[in-house]
Amino acid sequence: MDALEDHDGASKGKYTIGLGQDCMAFCSEVEDVISMSLTVVTSLLEKYGIDPKQIGRLEVGSETVIDKSKSIKTWLMEIFEECGNTDIEGVDSTNACYGGTAALFNCMNWVESSSWDGRYGLVVCTDSAVYAEGPARPTGGAAAIAMLVGPNAPIALEGKFRGTHMSHVYDFYKPDLASEYPVVDGKLSQTCYLMALDSCYNRFCSKFHKIEGKPFSIADADYFVFHSPYNKLVQKSFARLYYNDFLRNSSSFEKDVREKLEPYSTLSGDQSYQSRDLEKASQQVAKPLYDAKVQPSTLLPKQVGNMYTASIYAAFASVIHNKHSTLGGQRVVMFSYGSGLASSMFSFRFQDGQHPFSLSNIASVLNVSNKLESRHVITPEKFVETLKLMEHRYGAKGFLTSKDTSLLSPGTFYLTEVDSMYRRFYAKK
Ligand code: ACO
Repeated sequence: MDALEDHDGASKGKYTIGLGQDCMAFCSEVEDVISMSLTVVTSLLEKYGIDPKQIGRLEVGSETVIDKSKSIKTWLMEIFEECGNTDIEGVDSTNACYGGTAALFNCMNWVESSSWDGRYGLVVCTDSAVYAEGPARPTGGAAAIAMLVGPNAPIALEGKFRGTHMSHVYDFYKPDLASEYPVVDGKLSQTCYLMALDSCYNRFCSKFHKIEGKPFSIADADYFVFHSPYNKLVQKSFARLYYNDFLRNSSSFEKDVREKLEPYSTLSGDQSYQSRDLEKASQQVAKPLYDAKVQPSTLLPKQVGNMYTASIYAAFASVIHNKHSTLGGQRVVMFSYGSGLASSMFSFRFQDGQHPFSLSNIASVLNVSNKLESRHVITPEKFVETLKLMEHRYGAKGFLTSKDTSLLSPGTFYLTEVDSMYRRFYAKK
């Protein structure tokens, strides 16, 4: 991001401090959301020793459109057909960065339902986040995540506390079907995100209060994980939760916090979203709790960029990576946001799972440090050149890729060809 600031002529520190980002991943011409999904599903099945016949539902969340009809899930069926398993429900879910959460809820609901047949659900979040030249470009990223869903999980959903907020807005959308790039109203998307956060938090808190018989506050969760378009918004989001707690029960706060936040306690909702002073004051007083409860989730989003549907789950994986030895019995609150807009707040509780699903084994399978260290640095010039090539390739047919796998680790799937009928072909390194 530092090199990209220089390349773009942005003021020094704008991407690294202003947006809070360290690095950004992107797909080269041999990878896309389908190849990334094939890679993560194959990897998960291999590393946990899961027989593909044990999967009964497969849901994909993505907002990267490769085909307007054929779901990404159908490409993944290749893995299962080979083993004679075509009995797998589920297709794709789409609404900006929220599709992965919709897919996860679908799978969890299936496992809890009367149609569950005892097999595992599998959720895949896969996206390539690319923006046209301009201020949004440094907030891109690319990733795929696969998650196994079943009973007696070490990471258990607390299903009753969900708070959801959905509404119709034009903050970020993809109306131009000939382009991979979204239309973005950046400022509006930031405000919509924070408004959705407030609304979900209020609903989450009131459900918690009703069921548990006591009010919820930040103190009731050990970690908070946010959809992370860029780290600065995550810092602002946690400060917003802190401000919400303050508005609900200011007397429980220390005197110095009360002095700092009281001037803003009479602002209307709209005024509070526009107040830069409130933003600064709340971020300052929330900082010690941010460091304890949010910072452990920020590693992958800061290193990889916005992964759209995968972003919140990569943040969650960062918590497992950083804290797996102390998570037993702890609660994490998740906030998922997809522009347009769809958003939910929900929570997980950790418990010690049995091998191979112990938290320590999950952390070792994730192997986050090695994966980050084995990445290759690409210059901003090469990044821009790649995006130009991808603009031409988007929606195109009848081409072979370079098949250059020199930057891919063994086991990675890659695109080899799109034929004259737009059919896509992949190989595994
Ligand atoms: N050093 C330190 N900080 C700096 C510097 C500098 N040299 N220059 C600017 N900044 C700060 C700004 O003060 C601002 O921080 P603040 O919000 O705390 O004040 C921050 O950098 C960003 O700069 P801006 O000028 O406010 O914004 P910009 O025009 O660069 O756009 C935006 C940022 C809106 C996030 C843009 O990148 C965008 O549209 N991204 C895509 C939309 C998005 O991600 N929305 C989030 C939710 S929706 C979703 O997930 C897609």
